[in-house]
Formats: sequence, C-alpha cells, structure tokens
Amino acid sequence: MLLTLPRWFDLHTHFRQGPAMASYVQAHLDMGCAGALAMPNTQPPVARVSGAAEADGWSIESYAAELRAAGGEAFEQLIVPLYLTRQTTEAMIHEGATSGLLRACKYYPPHGTTNAEHGLPMDDLIGGDVFRAMEEHRIVLCIHGEQHGLSGSDYLDAQQNAETRFYRERMPRLVAAHPNLRIVCEHITTRVAAEFVAGAPEPIGATITPQHLLYTLGHLIQGLKYHLYCLPIVKFQDDRAALRQAVTTLGQTKFFAGTDSAPHTTKATACGCAAGCFTGGCAPQLYAMAFEKAGVDLGTTDGQTLLERFLCLNGPAFYDFPASTRCFQMEKARSQFAALETPAGPVPPLPTGMGLDLTWRIVP
Ligand code: NCD
Ligand code: ZN
Repeated sequence: MLLTLPRWFDLHTHFRQGPAMASYVQAHLDMGCAGALAMPNTQPPVARVSGAAEADGWSIESYAAELRAAGGEAFEQLIVPLYLTRQTTEAMIHEGATSGLLRACKYYPPHGTTNAEHGLPMDDLIGGDVFRAMEEHRIVLCIHGEQHGLSGSDYLDAQQNAETRFYRERMPRLVAAHPNLRIVCEHITTRVAAEFVAGAPEPIGATITPQHLLYTLGHLIQGLKYHLYCLPIVKFQDDRAALRQAVTTLGQTKFFAGTDSAPHTTKATACGCAAGCFTGGCAPQLYAMAFEKAGVDLGTTDGQTLLERFLCLNGPAFYDFPASTRCFQMEKARSQFAALETPAGPVPPLPTGMGLDLTWRIVP
C-alpha cells in the first residue's frame, strides 16, 4: 500500500539552539515535513520580536534567521512564536504584527515543563493589554494548558489532573474575556480538553501528538519507559479514545498535527527525568499507525482523507497559510528507527524501548 499525501506541517516542535539544530531540522525535512512552528523555549528563550540575539534572549527575527541558516530555509513555512514573559508588552505585539514577524505567542505555565521558568500565570494575562492586542491583530495564542503549581496529588489523580483543571477552570474565563482570540490548545491529552475544543467557537483549535494518540499512562509506568515521558503526561484509555475520536471525525477542521518532538540528549538525570519525546524521523509513520489503531483503513479514500486533513490541511487553514503543493509518500512496510546522531550526542526517538515496530516507511 502506498500513500501519497501533500507534504505535512508540524505545528508544534522543538529545534533547540546550537550545533545540533541542523540535525533536528534535517530529520524533519527527511520525513516529508513542509514547515514547522518552532517553539521558543530555547536557552535563552525567544522573548523579543526583533533585533540581535542577546545573552538573555533571542528575538523572533534572530532565532528564525538561525533556523534558516541551519537548513530551515527549505521549509515553506517557519513560525516562531513569542514566549510570553513578564517582559512582554502590548507594544511588542503591535510592532510584531505590523512588521509581520509576529504570528503567534506561546503561553507556558510557570515551571510547568522543560524551560518554562520564564512563564507567568494565566490569571495575570487574562483581561490584559497583551491579549487584547493579540485579539486586535489576529495573533494566535499557543497554550500549554496545564494548571501550574499543584501538589503531586492534585497534579495527577484519577478524577482530575493539571490539564483537566486548566480546561475546566481557566479556559472558560479566557474565552469569555477574549472572544476573538485565536487559540491553539497544544498537545491536548484528555477527554475534557478534546471536548472543550470540539465545542468551542471557531477560532479555537488543537494539536495532538503521536504519543498521546498511541499510548496511555500504563505504557509509561510498565517498565518506566522514560522515552515516553513528556508533558502533559500521557493519560488514560478513555482520554486516548476521545483524542482518537477527535482526529477521526469526518470533516473535522479543529484538530491538526503538532508532534511536540522535543530532543533531549539526556533523558534520565541525577534528579529525575527530562520531559519531552523525540519523534524526528518517525512522526508521520506514528500518526498513520495511530489512525489505524483508531480503526481507520488507510487503504480507502475516506481513511486517507482523514489523515490528510489532520496532517496536511487543517493546520495551514488554521494558521492562514497555503497547504503544500508538493507531496511525500509512505508505504506500508516495516522500517527501522535509530538514534539521531547530532553534534550534541545521540538522541533516541520515541519508539525506543516501546517494543513497537514502525509499520510505515517514508519513501525517500
Ligand atoms: C518540551 C521540551 O522538551 O521542550 N517537553 C515536553 O515534555 N513536551 C516542552 C513542552 O512543550 O512542554
Ligand atoms: Zn512542546
């Protein structure tokens, strides 16, 4: 079986900084990726719009130039969101929107994930000038939707977790205060979030990662498979079923690919585990496998259309840029995956240790 699809877009990924960037960008190009939204939780963060990089932060302009020089020139689209910090001003939003450099801003819950220490509480942003300016200029708000600062027992429990609390308590307030804000609920992991997005007004969409469509918390805990450890953490079977249903609903326009591929050269550290799954090189294969697990027959036109919407069409429509007119192909065949060799060291991709064979292969 051979699948021919338009080149796809990864609307949430991490290319980091420094000499390994080129390897990460190349891994994306090699899997038929036509463009990416490159996350600003670099070291230092992307916290200004224009100007040269400085010791305390990149600008969108300087980081995007760095990415292009590292091979990103080959992408049809490259979006770098502005990291929302206490230093973000309304004037930056006006300036960035006017110059065209600013297309999105990223909300990180303070200390809520890798390199999220510059984030500020959502309550400090709701109703403020920065969000109002974003509404006015149609700048997309990318949200890592987890309530920050919870104790371990509230962070993840059977009845509730940091994500469900965020979508039940914070999102309705945000949407009520800023009805015209375009919002991407990123890497959603729960039924609560999926149902929130499905029922939300038109300018609200969501990305879903391959790992959250394929796995549950049980897969992570059984053998402590730390390559699967990312934030938000994988959840329960009912949550995964809701995510699978969201992406396989005929004609859906709200859900699209954002791998959250997050390379870490060291996962297990002296004091815990770095959060982030690396899926460079194997993301479309994993998405295709997840669609099959969700009951989609990729041998049929209907099945292919569902995958095409999610991977290649909905993201561009949401972010207002054209879908790719070039194609990539995958064939139904076992394929190998290996650690990506980079100047920073090898980075093992997610299926490592998961006992999973890739059953799709990118046609080179
Ligand atoms: C990401 C990373 O490593 O930068 N990690 C993760 O677990 N997803 C950060 C993020 O997007 O949360
Ligand atoms: Zn991420």
